[in-house]
Amino acid sequence: MRAVSFAVSIIFMFLIEAPWCLHSQSDNTASGPSPEAVVPSLAAAYEHYFPIGAAVEPQSLNTQGDFLVAQVSSLVAENAMKWDHIHPRRGNDVSSYNFSGADAIVDFARQNGMLIRGHTLVWHNQVPFWVFRGDSGTATRAEVLERMREHISTVLTHFRGKVYCWDVVNEALSDGGGTWRVESPWFKAAGDDENGDGIPDYIVKAFEYARSADPTARLFYNDYGIEAGEKLEKAYSLVKALKEKGLIDGVGIQGHWSIYSPDAETVRNAIKRFASLGVEVQITELDLSVYRWGDSSSLTALQPNLASQQAARYGALFKVFRDEAAVGGDAPSSGHGKLSGVTFWGIADDHTWLDSFPVTGRKDWPLLFDVDHHPKSAFWAVVHW
Ligand code: G3I
Repeated sequence: MRAVSFAVSIIFMFLIEAPWCLHSQSDNTASGPSPEAVVPSLAAAYEHYFPIGAAVEPQSLNTQGDFLVAQVSSLVAENAMKWDHIHPRRGNDVSSYNFSGADAIVDFARQNGMLIRGHTLVWHNQVPFWVFRGDSGTATRAEVLERMREHISTVLTHFRGKVYCWDVVNEALSDGGGTWRVESPWFKAAGDDENGDGIPDYIVKAFEYARSADPTARLFYNDYGIEAGEKLEKAYSLVKALKEKGLIDGVGIQGHWSIYSPDAETVRNAIKRFASLGVEVQITELDLSVYRWGDSSSLTALQPNLASQQAARYGALFKVFRDEAAVGGDAPSSGHGKLSGVTFWGIADDHTWLDSFPVTGRKDWPLLFDVDHHPKSAFWAVVHW
């Protein structure tokens, strides 16, 4: 049924030259419609399920602008809203902040009717040293918490009514033994638990400050590797405790995965598990590397068999996402926990952080569009069901 309506809409779009359609050149990995066929819009295909987002840099608006408008309904700043970009200098006056890159992204999104996710307020990376430095040595717990409060308040006030949700705390959980990322400068400064609620104080305070700065924003905890194993249990306990305090609205499963793992049912289980807490769930940083974790070999091109594997896994994941989506009466505003958004960490293989991680300078092809912005097999597996 869906396939028939898809075919009909392709023909219709071809006839009317709908503005959200692009013409495809050829793509040697594509297994969908022929070269020069009309490329449907991801956002339009998923409009009854959830917003489709992409992470962008301010310069992407020039290099990928029309393409982004055609394909996605939500943007997130890949780096431009992080502390080191937005608040590079000590102080709380206007000269300490630099909103230019973030504002460019927000203005572009609003002009094109897109949502904006906020990423991220409290993270152990990309936070300037001055935040943890006092006049003579290390800053005190009180100084650090006051800087955090002031930062969150200024940023959420600046973007109030424009950014609909925030990754308030990012990656606070340990990958190995123990629960918390104890080497984080935030944990070192204010990772104690003075009120005995089992959560490091800096995490609770970050959510309290965000709630008070913008009561209309939906507040998320965001992390990688929380779809399975011990880290899922740690994240579940943290989100449960924050939910009981009324401080959290959602959890972001980042989704930096590969074409080999995790399998789609593992992801379904994690979505259901978090949703059972009554919070919304989003996939916030989706990309599927073509390399296995731990493999440091390099490919010179995306092999057809890998492109097919990538398409199969993307297809299986999006089947799960559709099944678990917040549709109709289950929309997040109804209070039912469900999947409420899927954001890719980039949009096309010409710009991906995986070209410099975990092997610097190694090419990867983790997204739905190739380096020339043409759809890959994976794209068709996602829009064609
Ligand atoms: O801004 C400087 C620029 O001034 C300098 O000339 C250039 C030279 O290398 O570096 C620029 O900074 C880079 C920054 O991205 C902005 O482009 C950093 O070196 C680089 O390390 C940084 O990488 C970002 C990374 O977070 C930092 O940890 C990636 O672009 C970004 O995709 C990545 O995103 C994170 C999410 O926020 C959280 N989850 C994991 C995800 C992937 O690591």
